[in-house]
Amino acid sequence: MAPGLFTLEQVTASRGGQPVLDGLELEIGEGVTALLGPSGSGKSTLLRLLNRLAEPERGSVRFRGEDVRSLDPHDLRRRACLVPQLPALLPGTVAHNVSYGPSLRARDADVARCLELAGLSAAYADREGERLSVGEQQRVMLARALALEPEVMLLDEPTSALDERTQAGVEATLARLVSELGVSAVIVTHDRGQAQRLARRTVRLSDGRVAA
Ligand SMILES: Nc1ncnc2c1ncn2[C@@H]1O[C@H](COP(=O)(O)OP(=O)(O)O)[C@@H](O)[C@H]1O
Ligand SMILES: [Mg+2]
Repeated sequence: MAPGLFTLEQVTASRGGQPVLDGLELEIGEGVTALLGPSGSGKSTLLRLLNRLAEPERGSVRFRGEDVRSLDPHDLRRRACLVPQLPALLPGTVAHNVSYGPSLRARDADVARCLELAGLSAAYADREGERLSVGEQQRVMLARALALEPEVMLLDEPTSALDERTQAGVEATLARLVSELGVSAVIVTHDRGQAQRLARRTVRLSDGRVAA
């Protein structure tokens, strides 16, 4: 059988000296997986273990069959790209933000296409990122991730900072992205309805493990 997207075995992780995940066993397949659980249950921690922004104390994380510790962290973070809960743009224009990641690898980004996929018109390219609304900034974060041509997007509550209407718009954009590009995603969300609308499978975290 082909290896899954991510395989976590006996993963134990702490933050600030407190145990967060405890012997977690989880297989994440291709497609869209939603990650639910109460606040503080370790959803963000789990997402960060997937692309090695955090390291487990015990256990292993494999990406497409390879132990993440054997992969170059920068390459891993491009292939499995995390979009954080709150937008964090670089100073400068939207175009600068979108093309920055590829430029580190001496590549050009198709800024207009990335913006369009993220639901923004090409006219945004010359605007200052810091002057945009939070909803627009969140879309620029998506465009930045797409410019890296990731195999999987790790989305940490991508709509939680947005008002209801903007939420629905960004959610529709995400749905279109995954169906058009066929990119896999792990989406942390508080919203059961969002999980059902976007994901093929829902995983619920509780007490440091996957709840039955
Ligand atoms: N930087 C940090 N320093 C100390 N404790 C942290 C830090 N980040 C998270 N934690 C703690 O780790 C636990 C899990 O956090 P997190 O993975 O962010 O949960 P979730 O995303 O499900 O809300 C929480 O108890 C939280 O308070
Ligand atoms: Mg979180």
